[in-house]
Amino acid sequence: MNLSVVILAAGKGKRMKSRLPKVLHEALGRPMLQYVVDAVKPLKPQKTIVVTGNGAEEVKKRMDGEDGLSFVIQKELLGTGDALATAKGELSGNTVLVLNGDCPLITAKTLKRFLNKHSRNKNDLSFLSFVDDSMSGYGRILRSESGKVTGIIEDKHAGPEEKRKFKELNGGIYLMKTGILKYLDRIKKNGSSGEYYLTDIVELVSKEGLKAEAYNCPAEEIRGVNTRAELLEISDVLKRRVISKWMDRGVTFIAPDTSYIHTSVSIGRDTIIYPNTYLEGNTRIGNNCIVYPGSRIYDTIIANGVIIKDNTVIEKSRIGNESEIGPFARLRPGSVIGRKAKIGNFVEIKKSSIGNGSKASHLSYLGDAVIGSKVNIGAGTITCNYDGKNKFRTIIESGVFVGSDTQFVAPVKIGRDAFIAAGATVTKNVPAGSLAISRTKQQNLKGWVRRKQLKVKRQE
Ligand code: UD1
Ligand code: CA
Repeated sequence: MNLSVVILAAGKGKRMKSRLPKVLHEALGRPMLQYVVDAVKPLKPQKTIVVTGNGAEEVKKRMDGEDGLSFVIQKELLGTGDALATAKGELSGNTVLVLNGDCPLITAKTLKRFLNKHSRNKNDLSFLSFVDDSMSGYGRILRSESGKVTGIIEDKHAGPEEKRKFKELNGGIYLMKTGILKYLDRIKKNGSSGEYYLTDIVELVSKEGLKAEAYNCPAEEIRGVNTRAELLEISDVLKRRVISKWMDRGVTFIAPDTSYIHTSVSIGRDTIIYPNTYLEGNTRIGNNCIVYPGSRIYDTIIANGVIIKDNTVIEKSRIGNESEIGPFARLRPGSVIGRKAKIGNFVEIKKSSIGNGSKASHLSYLGDAVIGSKVNIGAGTITCNYDGKNKFRTIIESGVFVGSDTQFVAPVKIGRDAFIAAGATVTKNVPAGSLAISRTKQQNLKGWVRRKQLKVKRQE
């Protein structure tokens, strides 16, 4: 079969009350439209056409990098029938799959089954339906006494009698022979909404004696998103799907309702994810890791046996085996932490590499630094990497001991095994094996406190 896909995504999404085109609203870190695009990929269509209109440029830009997508623009948003007609000229092959772009829960498995049924039964037109009394705003499928599909009526146009009688709802996913697209021209403008309804093609086709059929599919998969509340509902479904998948693969979740794992994330076996955790973007977490509560990890690669303690934020970084990060640590983009390293509380790292077994346990800022292995960074160490105009590097070679409250005024280089005495302001390079000390000599003035008190008393 030669299949083309059309995704209808031009609508305003009025009910979202948003500046953003509806199909770009995100669920678990990806736009709704992306889910639909991903669900059709395994069907290997010859072409996938996205009908855009409202925010067309923005939609196109966001989907940039998706292979095999083409875009057409629906000039005026005159309804779903008009939207499909806009794509007609671009279609090839003998079968067309049409989906609404606001229906992110549809799975490739359901679409494959649908395709098989459609072709096995040699239908001219097929579509997916579901029954769920709790849902409103969907088209209702009309059937004759004998059960033959005769049309679809939108919920808002259906009278009480039709609502009582017809409980089967339209999922907005259609398969049709390319030949029946000619009926699009015969769809009439709806009197009350002024739109051309794609759903009206069902009546036209069945009146011609062509074969139209609706197939029931799981209600969960064809939920459309028209409002923010529905976006939340589908996000919850996606979240549960993602977490079940990782549980099946050996990951423990302490409170799955409060963990948000983007679909693009991967997690290794025997890793434990605590409550209120956000694993986002292209994050990969290895085996036997623990992510404690309140952490957000974005686009980061974490090896095995790593412990991320509470309330830690990590972005675009890498962490080696058995390292420990946090609590309250912040790794900004470009942090590369080696094996068995330790980054403790209130430590901020930016665009720096920290070697194997090195430690920065408390209250430090390390920016644009290259730090070797087995380096000890004392509490309160700061790299002064910025002079108001440019950024400079600090290089600290392996085995260096940095005493507490040291400032490295970059650019500066500390040689192997050097020792920096506490409280130093390091402005010059330190040769390997040397002690750097920069402080004024301490004086102790004996009896000073008592003398001062006496002076104050005399003045009173
Ligand atoms: C539509 C169906 C309804 C079905 C429901 C399933 C029609 C008339 N109704 O209703 O039977 O139960 O989907 O979710 O088709 N769009 C365009 N151009 C337009 C109008 C819409 O591209 O001019 C796109 C929208 O971006 C959206 C999709 O078509 O992705 C569906 O439009 P929407 O307005 O959400 O239709 P529903 O009222 O949900
Ligand atoms: Ca909709």
